[in-house]
Amino acid sequence: MRILLINGPNLNMLGTREPEVYGRDTLDEIVARVHSMAQELGAEVTALQSNHEGAIVDFIQENQASADGIVINPGAFGHYSYAIRDAISGSNLPAVEVHISNVHAREHFREQLVLSGVCKGVITGLGWRGYLYALDLLVSMAKEEK
Ligand code: DQA
Repeated sequence: MRILLINGPNLNMLGTREPEVYGRDTLDEIVARVHSMAQELGAEVTALQSNHEGAIVDFIQENQASADGIVINPGAFGHYSYAIRDAISGSNLPAVEVHISNVHAREHFREQLVLSGVCKGVITGLGWRGYLYALDLLVSMAKEEK
């Protein structure tokens, strides 16, 4: 069982970027926690962080045939990227959208989530643990199907 873990623009700066909003954990630390939980659950995680929309689309297309689900924090792309939305829906994989901060408690433009309609659901505002909850859900769903 393989889950794709995708982090979009500026998430490589976690740890130092607006720590009052996003916390002090680095992306490497968070990704390591996801890998270790995946191992406990008997799953494998393939991770990408990119600041480029096309690279995220490429990654989904290249990995969709051999994956069972997608955990994606699209960063700001979540508010306007129809290309990533189309890549997720075209992959036919169950996806969970994660935001570390509560996008509904911030600026108005963050309320619009254009990927959410092609995702199973959205986890927003639960900090780095949101990635683990998303992974847990996707692995449970995939196990039910197999
Ligand atoms: C974010 C929320 C987005 O609005 C923002 O552009 C990010 C991070 C989050 O994880 O809370 O880059 O996706």
